[in-house]
Amino acid sequence: MTSHTAPDHPDIEKVLISQAQIQDRLAELGAEVSSHYGDDEVVVAAVLKGAFIVLADFSRHLSTNTVFDFMAVSSYGASTKSSGVVRILKDLDAEIEGRHLLIVEDIIDSGLTLSYLLKNLKTRKPASIEIMSLLMKPEQLKVDLPVRWVGFEVPNEFVVGYGLDYAERYRTLRYIGTLKPEVYS
Ligand code: PRP
Repeated sequence: MTSHTAPDHPDIEKVLISQAQIQDRLAELGAEVSSHYGDDEVVVAAVLKGAFIVLADFSRHLSTNTVFDFMAVSSYGASTKSSGVVRILKDLDAEIEGRHLLIVEDIIDSGLTLSYLLKNLKTRKPASIEIMSLLMKPEQLKVDLPVRWVGFEVPNEFVVGYGLDYAERYRTLRYIGTLKPEVYS
């Protein structure tokens, strides 16, 4: 996807998805998700850190009865990134047995983080589990992951902004962009 919006940060090479495109898509997804759950209560859980920005904007398009919650995870180290085994640093506050759970992510890359989390969360017997991610890299996906709502598919490039960081920077950019190679090389 291309956009003609000019980056407003010197480290950004190009804007892949503009602020307006993101906001329009989140409004569409909010309407779809609201219609899916209807009058049912849903626990909407963001995976920190990146998803906090998506959740803030997306949640304001939800018209369902929602409870918000957060999880924080970390991989066990460089060698285990590919195994997908993650450590839960902060678990959900909510008990999810018998309740609908919607997991909100900023990006799905290999899919291993969510695959592991799903296995864990399913053991708690929620009424349903769905996944919504603003971004997805289809070329990178290593596992079969049931992602119900995706904002945008992106190519296999290093993207930052709108919650996504490089060394904890760039999360507050209002668009999704690519970094100039000299920034990370
Ligand atoms: C990102 C993203 C997912 C995970 C996806 O988080 O928010 O949680 O990576 O990768 P995967 O599909 O290959 O498992 P990251 O580790 O960058 O942490 P952050 O959200 O705290 O920046």
